[in-house]
Amino acid sequence: MKQNLQFTILLTLVAFLWSCNSPKTSSNNIVEENVEFATQQIGREIESMNAKGEILNPRTIHKDGTTRYNTPELWTSGFFPGSLWYLYELTGDSKWKVEAEKVTETLDTVQYLTWHHDVGFMVYCSYGNGYRLTKKPEYKDVIIQAAKSLSTRYRPNVGAIQSWNVHRGWQAKRGWQCPVIIDNMMNLELLFEATKLSGDDSFRSIAIKHAETTMEHHFRDDYSSYHVIDYDTITGQVRNKVTAQGYADHSAWSRGQGWAIYGYTLCYRETKDPKFLKQAEAIANYLFSHPRMPKDLVPYWDFDCKDIPNTPRDASAASVIASALYELSTYSPEKSESYKKLADEIVVNLSSPAYRAKLGENNNFLLMHSVGSIPHGAEIDVPLNYADYYFLEALCRKRELEKLAAK
Ligand code: GLY
Repeated sequence: MKQNLQFTILLTLVAFLWSCNSPKTSSNNIVEENVEFATQQIGREIESMNAKGEILNPRTIHKDGTTRYNTPELWTSGFFPGSLWYLYELTGDSKWKVEAEKVTETLDTVQYLTWHHDVGFMVYCSYGNGYRLTKKPEYKDVIIQAAKSLSTRYRPNVGAIQSWNVHRGWQAKRGWQCPVIIDNMMNLELLFEATKLSGDDSFRSIAIKHAETTMEHHFRDDYSSYHVIDYDTITGQVRNKVTAQGYADHSAWSRGQGWAIYGYTLCYRETKDPKFLKQAEAIANYLFSHPRMPKDLVPYWDFDCKDIPNTPRDASAASVIASALYELSTYSPEKSESYKKLADEIVVNLSSPAYRAKLGENNNFLLMHSVGSIPHGAEIDVPLNYADYYFLEALCRKRELEKLAAK
């Protein structure tokens, strides 16, 4: 009897400890458990900023362990305010709206930025989410102005938006004329939104043409994507198919594949053109039938890195892919369940101690183990604010799908 009681107490204790330390595999509570964690973890960051009296915009952790903060013109400046908007959406607590507005509005000048393509990421994730959730008229103006700025980079001879300038920085050494990177698919969301807000169809036309040109030249027969296509600015012909952040020109850089599946999913959302859906599904098939996709579905930083399995994973690629899959599951009736299941698996695994930080650690970022750019020796196996942003977006999308399914 006494032994039975001791055994029951031991079992209860083991179950309690397991529930504290393991990912919650139940679909019902994983969103809420992550939201609880994220509000505490990001809440700590906000408290520390407020105590310093500063509005800061965290990006990652430096090699010396201190936090690297964004300045507005960096491509990653929209993600932290975007995460605050998602926390507002996920909690309904207006405290997050106040914080999101503060950080978003530090990016006011970005709407005029024309010297790189990332204005789409920067403004859509911050002001775009802000407008979606608050309908503040001044945010609408910023989105439209940013779309005008991004459109200045459209090259009609090529049929695409030029990603990077070629006369400064490390890009100047590559001899490119008009480099377009697969990441650029993500900037199209801003253009589609600007047409809806302004009635000016030119933004949408540019987005569609860019997606078509990219579909034609960026993809290999197996639907993996090159990172960079360099075009001739006069003839529009392809000059080279190369990489900047991947393992090799011929390789499949994991985050790039994430941008690709997300980008074509959003193009289908906005156009309902079946060729974009087919493209997104083909990319999903490439990813999930790949022999080097790890069991936990968090890719190595490049599918073709010769050091696999002794090379870093990229949690940011996994977050982007999970978020894209939730949306794609709503457009592909036959594959809906399998896409949702894959996305759920990614979310569960990212929520495990293998990837999700402990409360109060990781400089208050949510996820560990992302990769910025190995060829540049930058931000390797660190937290990145875009991993956190797409993780929170995936949680929002998962919750919305579950609400719909319960109706
Ligand atoms: N857009 C840059 C990156 O994905 O690292």
